[in-house]
Amino acid sequence: MNTIEVCLTHELIHHHELKGKIVVVTDVFRATSCIVSGLAKGVKAIKPVIEVEECLELQKQGYLAGGERHAQMIEGFDLDNSPFSYMETRSMGQKVAMTTTNGTLTINKSKEADEILAASFSNLSATASYLKNKGKDVLIVCAGWKGRPGLEDVLFGGALTLAMSDSHETEGDSTFLATAAYETAQSDLLSYLQRASHLKRLKKLGGKDIPYCLEIDLFDVVVKLNEESELVLAS
Ligand code: MLT
Repeated sequence: MNTIEVCLTHELIHHHELKGKIVVVTDVFRATSCIVSGLAKGVKAIKPVIEVEECLELQKQGYLAGGERHAQMIEGFDLDNSPFSYMETRSMGQKVAMTTTNGTLTINKSKEADEILAASFSNLSATASYLKNKGKDVLIVCAGWKGRPGLEDVLFGGALTLAMSDSHETEGDSTFLATAAYETAQSDLLSYLQRASHLKRLKKLGGKDIPYCLEIDLFDVVVKLNEESELVLAS
C-alpha cells in the first residue's frame, strides 16, 4: 500500500524524502485557496515565486502581480491575497505572478518531488481522487506561518489523509495528530479555528476570506505545477 504523511511546516521539509512522491502543498489561509479558486474560475496560470522583485519583473512581462506581505497587499501589485481578487473579471484569462509569506515559498521548497499539487478545502475531494489514481506515496506539506504550524493547514492535512484511507497507509506521528485534530474539528471547522493564530491575524484585516477558505469541495479541479513552474489545472 502507498503511504501518506503530513509535514507540519515547510521548515521541517528537509526531514522528508521528496523524490518519488507527490507533494501536496496547502496554505488554507490563503495562498492555495486563492490559487484553486482563481484557476477554477478562469485564471490562465499562476507562477509562484519567492521574492517581491521577481513578481514585479514578471509584471513588466505581462503577468498580474499578486500576493501579500504581513497578509497585506504589496505596493505596486495588482492583486492582494484574497481568493475573491483571483476570481474577479480582470483576472480571467491572465497569468498571475504570486508571492506570499509562506505558501509560494513552500511550493518552491518542494521542487524535488516527482509532482507538486496545490490544494485547499475547496478542492479536497478532487485532489483525493487524483492522488488515488496516481498510486504514489504522498507528502502533504503545510505552509504554516513563518516556520510554525498553522492549525488550518494541519486540519486540511488530516482531512486529505482521511479521504485517502482506503488507498494510502498513514505514516508518521504528525499525520496522526492531523487526523485526530480533523476528527475533532470537522463538524464545525470555523469554531474550532477561533484559536488559530492566522485566523486572528486575518480577522483584523476584515476576515471575509475566512469562512470562504473553509468551504469544502467548491471546485472539481486539481491544480499542479507544470514544467514551466506555473500552477495550472491538471487535465
Ligand atoms: C501565506 O502564504 O503566508 C498566506 O497565504 C498569507 C495570507 O495571505 O493570509
